[in-house]
Amino acid sequence: MSVKTELLSILEANRGKDLSGEEMANAMGVSRTSVWKAVKALREEGYRIDAVNNRGYRLEETSDILSAEGIRLKLDKKYQGIPIEVHKTVGSTNTELKRRSLDGGEHGFVLLSEEQTQGKGRLGRSFYSPPGTGIYMSILLRPEFSGSDTVLVTTAAAVAVCRAISGVLGLETQIKWVNDVYWGEKKICGILTEAVSDCEIGKLDSVIVGIGINYRTEEFPEELKERAGSVGAGSRVPRNCVAAAVLNEFFKIYGNLMEREFMDEYRARSNVLGREVQFLERGVWHTAKAVDLDADGGLVVECGSVEEGRVRRTLHTGEITLRVRE
Ligand code: BTN
Repeated sequence: MSVKTELLSILEANRGKDLSGEEMANAMGVSRTSVWKAVKALREEGYRIDAVNNRGYRLEETSDILSAEGIRLKLDKKYQGIPIEVHKTVGSTNTELKRRSLDGGEHGFVLLSEEQTQGKGRLGRSFYSPPGTGIYMSILLRPEFSGSDTVLVTTAAAVAVCRAISGVLGLETQIKWVNDVYWGEKKICGILTEAVSDCEIGKLDSVIVGIGINYRTEEFPEELKERAGSVGAGSRVPRNCVAAAVLNEFFKIYGNLMEREFMDEYRARSNVLGREVQFLERGVWHTAKAVDLDADGGLVVECGSVEEGRVRRTLHTGEITLRVRE
């Protein structure tokens, strides 16, 4: 571990506290000059580290830079060994992680970035990912299940995000089938799950679940302004804590994914069930009432009227765009 990495772990573990440069140098077995150099390098990366009485340092509580060290510190013990990588900028964390998965990346590998220049959303859309204000994170899974169960990963991730936000920020969020998380009327998170299959053995090689949370983003492009919001604006909770909470919740659910125990919570947090919806299917908009979510993550809707007779059918995520009627 480099001096910079070790120092960051110590500073993150003692946020807001004054730490003596000399004591840290002794603890790491390096010179005070090395500590000073590491502090300088961290400051250049944007960490707010105050000099205290010319002899010590303090990581400001409001310093909010994503780091593997800061995230790891908040992970439950059993997940602390997972590989975590944080980038300043990438095209898309999903695309980057897909590349890494082909190079043999291990199950549980997490890749985050402060910014995405080509953040991807569902159905070929883009995901607005400006620097320093969001949590753009992808998790690599080496699943035992088949392709049709991949949607469970998306639903599990949505529940994990809601639980994490509730636990860390004390805010209750809702899920818009299948992959969006809302806080009130605003979308604050999108999830994109992508699978890579191994055609030769007819099984999934890897699944990449990408989670994008608008945390402190205040300005959105014109076309998103009405619908998009942020869940952490003004909060003192650093993004590392939220990212770690999402990972803790996600891995907890994933450990027992096939039991589908989290689905009741998904239903309870749905802002779609019981409401009139419109869905776009092969270029045609249909109106229906959302009545249930089946065990495989399909949305059960009722189409037609009482007079003409109602028909129940299940929508699967693939190509469906959903609007909730006001
Ligand atoms: C959507 O809203 O349609 C899904 C958005 C998913 C965004 C996340 S951000 C991290 C990961 N990398 C991407 O390029 N997309 C996902």
